[in-house]
Amino acid sequence: MNSIAKANTFSASTVDQNDLYDREFHEWLKSNPGGVFSQYSVQDTVNKLNKGGKHHTLGGNLYGAEWSTGGISFFKRLRRLADIPRYARICDYGCGSLRIGIHFIKQQNSGCYYGLDVTRDFIEQGVEFAGDVVQNRCAKLGTIGNDLESAVKFDADLLFAANIVCHIHPEEAETFYANIKKIVHRPNGIILLHVVEHPFMVRYQKSGWAWPLDFYDKKMRPFRRVGTDFMKPFHKAGYFMNGYVLVYERPAKSVSILKNLIHLVKDKYREQKYHKKLRLQARNKD
Ligand SMILES: C[S@@+](CC[C@H](N)C(=O)[O-])C[C@H]1O[C@@H](n2cnc3c(N)ncnc32)[C@H](O)[C@@H]1O
Repeated sequence: MNSIAKANTFSASTVDQNDLYDREFHEWLKSNPGGVFSQYSVQDTVNKLNKGGKHHTLGGNLYGAEWSTGGISFFKRLRRLADIPRYARICDYGCGSLRIGIHFIKQQNSGCYYGLDVTRDFIEQGVEFAGDVVQNRCAKLGTIGNDLESAVKFDADLLFAANIVCHIHPEEAETFYANIKKIVHRPNGIILLHVVEHPFMVRYQKSGWAWPLDFYDKKMRPFRRVGTDFMKPFHKAGYFMNGYVLVYERPAKSVSILKNLIHLVKDKYREQKYHKKLRLQARNKD
């Protein structure tokens, strides 16, 4: 068995860990009947942030980065994938504390940004840092529970979901994909999905799932994948996984202006180089 296959073997400890995650969630359900995993997981994070805890993407106390610059590289990556005109209406689905959103708010014309999240708790932490900009640029902010219909009326040209898809519990997948496709209802509308890929579905942390690329493609139908931006591979809980941003387009009979502006990244060379490096590292560990 080669080292990558070995690392992907389902280990007993991973199974035990998954049981533990579910036990905690089911315990939570007893006092929150009818609740869903995202509410449980978000509440857990809100409690940690309220105690002054650090987070990679949420709140103002980020690991290794200032809030104002923490989301810039992701923002640039998304802009590289779709050369977005200032008048395009952008929906940031799972906007969290506006770490990436703030750069779109500044870049787009007034009123052209809509940030949605499960909870306002995260959003308010971003507003604390950037309240003036949010107000001056007439950025719309809301929760998925209360403001989905308003986001649909917003008539987005493009929606992005950064660091979200890997946190979607399988039981919430239907709702997630239905919502994002409902928001981008216009022909040629674009959805940029940041995903974690693995040849078969794995749960690699309490709130972390990876799926094969064709799973995402099926869920996104009738949208078509028109771009695949490889980010980087990583190794966690015994699995080798890859990060991607997948570019999807809602089909249309005519060609749109946005379509002409999409610059697809065909960086196969970079992808192959990363995989080679990963294989070498794995071989050296044996
Ligand atoms: C890791 S944070 C990323 C925040 C932001 N996109 C960023 O990259 O800075 C994950 C976000 O996903 C949101 N989230 C979790 N489950 C979700 C769901 N089912 N639908 C939409 N958003 C969800 C959380 O509330 C949280 O804000």
